[in-house]
Amino acid sequence: MSVVELLTITGGLVVLYHLLALAWKCWRGLRQFVFSKFWQVDLKAYGKWAVVTGATAGIGRAYALELARRGLDVVLVSRSADKLQGVAKEIEETYGRNTCTIQVDFTEGHSIYSTIAAGLEGLEIGILVNNVGMLPCAEFAAFMEAPDIEQKSTHLVNCNILSVVQMSRLVLPAMIQRRRGLIINISSISGDHPYPFLSLYSASKTFVTVFSRCLNAEYQPLGITVQSVNPSLISTNMVKHMEVGHFVKSAPEFAVGALNTVGHSDYTNGCLAHALMDTALRILQPEWLRLSQFNLRRLRNYNLLAKKKRSITKQK
Ligand SMILES: NC(=O)c1ccc[n+]([C@@H]2O[C@H](COP(=O)([O-])OP(=O)(O)OC[C@H]3O[C@@H](n4cnc5c(N)ncnc54)[C@H](OP(=O)(O)O)[C@@H]3O)[C@@H](O)[C@H]2O)c1
Repeated sequence: MSVVELLTITGGLVVLYHLLALAWKCWRGLRQFVFSKFWQVDLKAYGKWAVVTGATAGIGRAYALELARRGLDVVLVSRSADKLQGVAKEIEETYGRNTCTIQVDFTEGHSIYSTIAAGLEGLEIGILVNNVGMLPCAEFAAFMEAPDIEQKSTHLVNCNILSVVQMSRLVLPAMIQRRRGLIINISSISGDHPYPFLSLYSASKTFVTVFSRCLNAEYQPLGITVQSVNPSLISTNMVKHMEVGHFVKSAPEFAVGALNTVGHSDYTNGCLAHALMDTALRILQPEWLRLSQFNLRRLRNYNLLAKKKRSITKQK
């Protein structure tokens, strides 16, 4: 075989590999975001109750309401008793489902899980949505620049990481016994790519993503699915209720679409717009650029500008 023939065959195989990879990605995308609208898993089949952490606002509230609409009773777990009662009432009145509330503060760490275990006792938990999460501070900031970093970093690890581990530990034994269950972990696109000036948050979400994917591999043979949901921007308190648009989704719209992906993907951005953003980020912002001083300067300038704009709007 001549060198030219060898190069032609190698080139052909490389092109074929990339075409097949692209076709596979397109099929996965179509299945997750198009076919899933018409072909959905019956979520009631996982069990009677769903548990949602951080269920009184934003994405958690939207998941709780959508799960109730799809026929599940819901355990709502959050910090504020009055907000918990409000969402519970809304679910009972709108969808006629049972609710149960557990008031805990996830930043407190290990001590709260006996209260949660007592609250869940006797309930058939089919679905757990590990949604609760926090940012270390309201602005983009380098690790040591966040105010009160000693306390905030412990709180963030407790809220974003420990909660996922401990809540999974609480519900898994019964799921394993019944050989059925679904755990949805709300991670973030920032867990897929390193985000300087969001270092703690981004790293905590990387933990959530990797933990979810490993748990899924370990427990899928026992009938349990662990889904990692890695969205980009959703208009909630966390992002100061940014205006909804093509790439910024409303929480209710996001929850409906993301729940449709159950059974179609164990690792999803939750909606097509965010999957496209993820792909674009991988191509346009490779890691060397993302972590470069050039990009950090750009982010710092952007942050300063955003701060100025906010203070002008406040003064007005
Ligand atoms: N919004 C986005 O753009 C976005 C993007 C990617 C991923 N995410 C992830 O999505 C999840 C939900 O975010 P979100 O934007 O919906 O947040 P959010 O609007 O701030 O809502 C957070 C929810 O968690 C509860 N909560 C907060 N801290 C708590 C604590 N220490 N203990 C108990 N409950 C607590 C809040 O209720 P109370 O205040 O009543 O306790 C509220 O119900 C987070 O894990 C976040 O990282 C968000």
